[in-house]
Amino acid sequence: GDTRYYEFNITRDRISTDGVLRDVILINGQFPGPLIEANWGDMIEVTVHNQIGHPFEGTSVHWHGMLQRETPWYDGVPAVGQCPIAPFHSFTYKYRADIHGTSWYHAHYSAQYTGGIVGPMQIYGPNSQDYDIDIGPVMISDWFHVPYFSIVADAVGTDLSVIPPVSDNVLINGRAQHDCSKRTYDNSSQWLASNLESDIEWTCVDNAPLSKFRFESGKTHRLRLSNIGADGIMKFSIDGHKMTVIAVDYVPIEPREANVITLGVGQRSDVIVKADNFAQSAYWMRVSAPGGEACGGSEAPQTLAAIYYDHADTSKLPTTYSAYNSTECVNDPLESTVPDYKITPSPNPFVQNLELSLVMNATGNYEWQINNQTFRANFNEPILFKAAEGNVSYPLQPQWAVHNFDKNNTVVLNVTNKTPFAHPFHLHGHNMYVLDEGPGVWDGSTVNHPNPARRDIQTIRASGFAALQFEADNPGVWPFHCHVAWHLSGGLAMNVMSRPEDILEIPNVMPQTCVDWDWYSNHNVVD
Ligand code: C2O
Repeated sequence: GDTRYYEFNITRDRISTDGVLRDVILINGQFPGPLIEANWGDMIEVTVHNQIGHPFEGTSVHWHGMLQRETPWYDGVPAVGQCPIAPFHSFTYKYRADIHGTSWYHAHYSAQYTGGIVGPMQIYGPNSQDYDIDIGPVMISDWFHVPYFSIVADAVGTDLSVIPPVSDNVLINGRAQHDCSKRTYDNSSQWLASNLESDIEWTCVDNAPLSKFRFESGKTHRLRLSNIGADGIMKFSIDGHKMTVIAVDYVPIEPREANVITLGVGQRSDVIVKADNFAQSAYWMRVSAPGGEACGGSEAPQTLAAIYYDHADTSKLPTTYSAYNSTECVNDPLESTVPDYKITPSPNPFVQNLELSLVMNATGNYEWQINNQTFRANFNEPILFKAAEGNVSYPLQPQWAVHNFDKNNTVVLNVTNKTPFAHPFHLHGHNMYVLDEGPGVWDGSTVNHPNPARRDIQTIRASGFAALQFEADNPGVWPFHCHVAWHLSGGLAMNVMSRPEDILEIPNVMPQTCVDWDWYSNHNVVD
């Protein structure tokens, strides 16, 4: 295969995606960031330059859903596979495009990605379904008007009272409109009551431009949907059109029809849409955040983007209506999520019960816990390095929350969610079999045995469960975490360790990240 080279220059910036000027942190000045494209089997090399400047902070980039077989250290998770990329340092990730389909990349340092370090990835492989036109990324994100650095500063804490419950807007490919008569943050809020106050004056422009897409009459179009937001579960639909879902996350599925697609944070769906109307037509594409705390609601009930057929008048906005009103924030049904390439999970799994909870700790702050443990990232001591030396055994460092599945070939994570919030859970380095999910607790059954759904993120509904099996065949230390940015930075995470004795020799560039990072930490300039 070929090698695909990219340079990411990460800097502070200000953009006005929806008419409201905001402090952000961007890759090459773009939001969303540049598209990474490769063919299945290619090598990808991305050099990341941390040019954030004041306030000094680290960064790292994670290639969501890549398996990183033989390169677990390039997974981009500080405290697990590397130390953060220190201020004014550069680091090159080198990994194989070992899986194909639609995904995204994002910073994995605290909640930093919600400030703008996100972008699309497309790995081209054999297509299971035919289509005429690849529309490319349709990226959906909730959006906050407070400056990115107040998000990072506050979200690393675990006191939920300082975490904003709802977003100010929802963007489609970085665009939306905001009603300027509604000012959505005030400088006196607890969020900004830090030494990191923004010097931006509130500026807002009504009728900011919306995203536009082109359809060709009579042709079929592939849309690569992803939820790259912080919190909100999103509903996607196109007025007057049905969609055919052909993949969830990186897994092609037997085509199924849908009117509405539900995406938890980090999830993807590839859909094919036939443009079956006159060449003059125009339609709204719409995304709604179902609202309600359980789903991570938004101030913006709905966001639109325009679809123009080949001869439509693009100076006019579409005038179509939605026929659907779907507010439940659970995944699309497992019954109809049937992987195209059949794999039967290995028999006799080791079953690890996990309980998610939200508890008040001794200091009166709320904490997210998995089996009574909150994950605490130690940026100076990556767990993978210790694991490779044979130095990780739970519960020696309980705050690392490492579960060692070394001697087991296959494992079921039986997760019971005792909180009133939905949690999209992601396992790094693997696709998981979603054996079952629903309200209450798991009864041990599997939906669609012998070929259950597979994906890399499954939303575990509020007060519900999910039974997620994986083959412990990828040597390394792999985070399993809620992808809601505030929950992740608040410690709703654990780590799966597989076959530590088979971890390959860690290249010298990895411990060097810690030498560089230590220098900045010891000079007290990183906070
Ligand atoms: Cu999208 Cu831990 O990652």
